[in-house]
Amino acid sequence: MKTVVIDITTEYDRALTEAKRLINQGEVVGIPTETVYGLAANAFCEDAVKKIFVAKGRPSDNPLIVHIAKLEDLEPLVAEIPEKVKIMAEKFWPAALTMIMKKSDKVSDVVSGNLDTVAVRMPKSDYARAIIEACGCPLAAPSANLSGSPSPTNAKYVFNDMNGRIPLIIDGGNCQIGVESTVISFAEDPPRLLRPGGVTLEEMTAVIGEIVVDDAVLNKLEEGAVASSPGMKYKHYAPTADITIIKSNFDTFKSICENENATALCFDGENENLSCSSVTYGDKDDGYSQSARLFDALRELDEKGATKVYARCPETKGMGLAVYNRLIRAAGFKIKVM
Ligand code: TXA
Ligand code: MG
Repeated sequence: MKTVVIDITTEYDRALTEAKRLINQGEVVGIPTETVYGLAANAFCEDAVKKIFVAKGRPSDNPLIVHIAKLEDLEPLVAEIPEKVKIMAEKFWPAALTMIMKKSDKVSDVVSGNLDTVAVRMPKSDYARAIIEACGCPLAAPSANLSGSPSPTNAKYVFNDMNGRIPLIIDGGNCQIGVESTVISFAEDPPRLLRPGGVTLEEMTAVIGEIVVDDAVLNKLEEGAVASSPGMKYKHYAPTADITIIKSNFDTFKSICENENATALCFDGENENLSCSSVTYGDKDDGYSQSARLFDALRELDEKGATKVYARCPETKGMGLAVYNRLIRAAGFKIKVM
């Protein structure tokens, strides 16, 4: 299969027309969102959704997020809309926020990975919402990487993973947020945070009060434990390089990197004070700048051929929680406190 790339920033009408044509034919299309690129198909067409799992090499028990363009599109997908979801939608959507609810009969088990719930998101990206509107159906879409690789933050990375596997990629430039959406479940009360992302725990707590943080957000799932979110049990975001997070001050970090001739994954500017090889991942005090850079930085480590990497430890507050959650997975949960 030939994979065509259309730049929606310069060929807006053609991008929408082609996305609509292919999605309505039951094909899979790579689309930009503000978080990461998605692999989209008509959420109401089982055969189309099955093609997503094939293109990605994704286990079939890992459910997909259904993307909508307006609030009216939520109702047909769910059994009922909990009061807290109404409040959250009003306050945050469109946003990097995915809310899980009991699903309606219209949502296929292929989409929900046989669970009785469905995850729904209204993306902030105007391009993403325009594509959904043009297609005229909700779009089921996981991140557009091959299963196990870092999520793609630009169309070039989607092409690297999906060339020959899907007919079309819509290029909308770099994703601003750079890590996937926040996933929170309202299938239970108090709601449970399953994956930290672009809308922070603090922002949500300020609006709806108590939120339970699932163990898997910060810790490795025990062998044999049942994951609240199936995605959390799979290896994720893993570059080839062996990464260890170093929780220390900069001087200690510097000496261990230099003594062991490792590659440093450090904050902006710190690289100027290191004599070893390094890759930076954003401003030390700005979780948003770190999230925008993290997945690119992980790919750069591989491009450099790094084998042993020591990473600076982000804060676990605000947007830092999402950054830390991805980085500990990339590091296979290896942390040294020094
Ligand atoms: O930002 C994002 O969320 C991107 C863009 C494309 O929207 N999408 C994305 O999808 O990251 P994916 O499939 O890579 O991650 C979705 C996560 C998975 O860990 C999955 O297990 C979980 O959400 N999930 C989906 N539906 C669920 C459900 N019903 N119950 C529990 N977890 C669910
Ligand atoms: Mg993913």
